[in-house]
Amino acid sequence: MSTFLIIGGTGKVGRRLTKELRDRGHVARTASRSAGDVIFDWTKPETYAGAVDGIDGMFIVGPGSARDWSADLGSLLTVAYDSGVTHTVLLSARGVEFLPGGAVATAEKAVRNSLIPWTILRPSHFAQNFTEAMFVPVDGIISSPVADGAEPFIDVEDIAQVAAAVLADASWKYDTIALSGPAAHTFDEAAAIIGDNAGLTINFYDEDPDLHTIRLRQNGTPEGYITWRMAMLNGIRRGDDAYLSDGVQRVLGRPAASFADWAAREASTLTTVS
Ligand SMILES: NC(=O)c1ccc[n+]([C@@H]2O[C@H](COP(=O)([O-])OP(=O)(O)OC[C@H]3O[C@@H](n4cnc5c(N)ncnc54)[C@H](OP(=O)(O)O)[C@@H]3O)[C@@H](O)[C@H]2O)c1
Repeated sequence: MSTFLIIGGTGKVGRRLTKELRDRGHVARTASRSAGDVIFDWTKPETYAGAVDGIDGMFIVGPGSARDWSADLGSLLTVAYDSGVTHTVLLSARGVEFLPGGAVATAEKAVRNSLIPWTILRPSHFAQNFTEAMFVPVDGIISSPVADGAEPFIDVEDIAQVAAAVLADASWKYDTIALSGPAAHTFDEAAAIIGDNAGLTINFYDEDPDLHTIRLRQNGTPEGYITWRMAMLNGIRRGDDAYLSDGVQRVLGRPAASFADWAAREASTLTTVS
């Protein structure tokens, strides 16, 4: 059994991964600015050494895609290497190809350049974005500028299981693993599936991309994040993100959970947001 550090361990992926590792008998130490087992802040390098002390491997969720954090990541990896960490697993994103040179791409580069053996996970958009993040319906409407573009949404539980398996198995070192659900769905289809399972009427509204950008700006969203988000959403809108990735099958030896399976398990918790 090993000891793992989960940076971003209180988030959507991190908290599920932490549970998964503990269920498998490992020690999992969560790190975040406010609520983890250990206080860790990407903007405070003095928090790095304490977080990595005594750990074997670490899972990294970055501070978001609004800015280039690869220099901070490089510093952490140096501290971790000196501390004896033997494996880094980075949570990247499949859409990295839509913004070459963006924060996610430079983070991947920092991990590949590090002295610590690494694995990179590149998931598609999360199914949980509809219940916990940017696609949560407001007054029964999912608004996004994606038209009839389809996306093979992945269940974050699958990402957590893949990450737990990869962290504990040295044979995945130096591999980049793309992950998606087993089928791509348009947002119209997703809205219908969620609505059926939540017992609510949920509809999709194809927002104008320029108006979406203006709305984000009006809400004070950082420009860097708007650039990343629009690159991802434009990829879906063009139909370029509908392809399937087999990482769940490769690592876990079983198919990824379908969107309908995820909705049956989690969409019933959805309540209307106004
Ligand atoms: N959503 C998607 O569809 C999707 C798809 C592919 C890839 N991804 C990738 O997934 C990642 C996000 O993962 P997630 O959804 O699990 O995250 P999340 O739910 O947004 O949680 C973020 C975590 O990071 C911590 N955090 C934020 N800023 C921090 C800082 N400056 N220093 C230390 N900790 C910090 C947060 O805790 P505190 O606030 O307490 O610090 C929290 O634990 C991103 O890198 C994104 O590119 C997302």
